Amino acid sequence: MEGNKELPEFTHEGRDKKKFVREMFNDISSNYDFLNHFLSVGIDIYWRKKFVQKLNISHGNHIADIACGTGDVCFEILKNHKVNVTGIDLAENMISIASKKAQKKQVENVQFLVGDAEALPLDSNSVDFLTISYGFRNIAHYEKAIEEFLRVLKPGGKLGILEFSKPKNSWLGSLFTFYFHQVLPRLGSLFSRSDAYRYLPESVDFFPSREDICRKLIYGGFNRAEIHDLTFGISTIFLGFKKGE
Ligand SMILES: C[S@@+](CC[C@H](N)C(=O)[O-])C[C@H]1O[C@@H](n2cnc3c(N)ncnc32)[C@H](O)[C@@H]1O
Repeated sequence: MEGNKELPEFTHEGRDKKKFVREMFNDISSNYDFLNHFLSVGIDIYWRKKFVQKLNISHGNHIADIACGTGDVCFEILKNHKVNVTGIDLAENMISIASKKAQKKQVENVQFLVGDAEALPLDSNSVDFLTISYGFRNIAHYEKAIEEFLRVLKPGGKLGILEFSKPKNSWLGSLFTFYFHQVLPRLGSLFSRSDAYRYLPESVDFFPSREDICRKLIYGGFNRAEIHDLTFGISTIFLGFKKGE
C-alpha cells in the first residue's frame, strides 16, 4: 500500500464499495483473464477446477454462478456436466466478455445476466448449486448476499464460495503477503488500472477469517458450513448447506 500505511486506501463495505467495484471491473475487464493467469502463474485455473470438483454436481442440475466475471467457473462446470448454468455479474463489461467467450467456445446451456448478488434476478428455491469464485470478497453487504443465496437455493441445495485466504504456515504467509502487497500491484499496474491491484491485497486483508465466514453462513440460516483449504491455505473453498425438506 502506498502513502499512510495505517489507513486503508479503499472502502471495504457499503454503497461506495459497490460503486467502486463495479466501475473497476468494468475498466479492467479486457485484461482480466490475462492478468489472472499471469499474476497467479496459472494456479487460478487449478483452483477453479478443484472448486468445481468439490461441489459434486449431478447431471440435470441448475447452477447459478454469482459474480461470474468472464465466466471461467461456468465454463469449467459445463466442461464436465450436462447442466444449466446462469452466470450473474454486476459489471456489464465482464458479462459481455463472458457472453462472447460462450459464443466462441460454442457452449450451450449457459446464460449470462447483469445482476447484483444482493438482489438476485432468480426465483426462490430455484437452483441446486450457487457458486461464487473470488467474488464474495468484493460484495458490499455480505449478510444481504447470504440471505439471497439462501433464498434462491432449493431445499438441500449447496453454496460454494472460493476465495483468497491468509495461509496458515507463517513463512509462506510472509512470502504471500510480500508478493501480494509488493510485487502484484507493481506488475498489475503495468497492464491495467493501477488501483485495481492495490485494492486486491487490501481486500484480502480486510476479508473476514475462515471461521467468521462460516459463522456468517450459519447465522444467515445455512444448516452447516465447511472449510477446505487449497495450496497451503492461499485459497479456501467454503461450502454452505441449505436444510433439506
Ligand atoms: C475477482 S472477479 C471474479 C470473477 C470470476 N468469478 C472468476 O473466478 O474469475 C469479482 C467479480 O465480482 C463481481 N461483483 C462484485 N460485486 C458483485 C455483486 N454485488 N453482484 C454481482 N457481482 C459482483 C465483479 O463485477 C467481478 O466481476
